[in-house]
Amino acid sequence: MKFQGSDQYVATQDLMLAVNAAVTLQRPLLVKGEPGTGKTMLAEEVATALGMPLMQWHIKSTTKAQQGLYEYDAVSRLRDSQLSGVGDAEKVRDIRNYIVQGVLWQAFSADRQVVLLIDEIDKADIEFPNDLLRELDRMEFYVYETRELVKAVHRPIVFITSNNEKELPDAFLRRCFFHYIKFPDADTMQRIVDVHFPGLKKQLLAAALKTFYDVRNLPGLKKKPSTSELLDWLKLLVAEDIPLEALQSKDDKVAVPPLVGALLKNEQDVTLFEKLVFMQRHNR
Ligand SMILES: Nc1ncnc2c1ncn2[C@@H]1O[C@H](COP(=O)(O)OP(=O)(O)OP(=O)(O)O)[C@@H](O)[C@H]1O
Ligand SMILES: [Mg+2]
Repeated sequence: MKFQGSDQYVATQDLMLAVNAAVTLQRPLLVKGEPGTGKTMLAEEVATALGMPLMQWHIKSTTKAQQGLYEYDAVSRLRDSQLSGVGDAEKVRDIRNYIVQGVLWQAFSADRQVVLLIDEIDKADIEFPNDLLRELDRMEFYVYETRELVKAVHRPIVFITSNNEKELPDAFLRRCFFHYIKFPDADTMQRIVDVHFPGLKKQLLAAALKTFYDVRNLPGLKKKPSTSELLDWLKLLVAEDIPLEALQSKDDKVAVPPLVGALLKNEQDVTLFEKLVFMQRHNR
């Protein structure tokens, strides 16, 4: 049961190693990397490749750890108790009927092994990872309301992604296997593009990739374009039927690429790029 990438997803050797290491260790894989480098997609692809269901928990700034375990729905219980007839009184009496299972509970109690994605853990407050230490380590938790212990039937394969907006606590890190998805080099990028646009003309791809890396390597950019932006841009180039010449300048100098809005996402970066082009023109 080894992960080797898929038809949709290009995994480098070290990424495959990391995934398989985490599976072997039965520890969560903490994945970091620039936005748009395939962190979320990795969990989806591993689930598909291993033929396991995927359970996703997308974290927001307001998300609490407890929500992933379970919540006690006191409001519904109160409403039922006020509105209900005799038949419902039974229901109201049993607190079990008002315990709502969270994603972690569902993953722990699934009748087969699942892949669990905890996406963008750095969005939550600092207590969040600390509150999940035991749950992710022992894969169990206690439900105080019903005095029951929920324990994973099959330990899920856990992926945790982070964009580095906040530092994660050491105690949390100790429990994970870590992998940083490096920005793809030109060869890997070519493979990724091939996966998404199998029929793309070689010359157009080469020119587009050169322009893309030129833009990316511009010193002082606030937001560097990443894989997903390159893919968007290529999609536009194809849809608009942009000719090869529009991407290549004769004298091998940098030019503002067509549809640059797919790559550069703020006005400072666009201005910076235009300045560079202007200076090159006047330096020859
Ligand atoms: N290795 C890859 N193979 C194939 N497609 C990829 C790869 N990496 C990125 N992509 C493409 O980039 C898109 C963005 O990937 P994804 O949403 O997983 O990024 P992310 O790292 O989770 O970004 P964010 O941090 O913004 O959530 C994917 O939908 C996919 O099309
Ligand atoms: Mg993501």
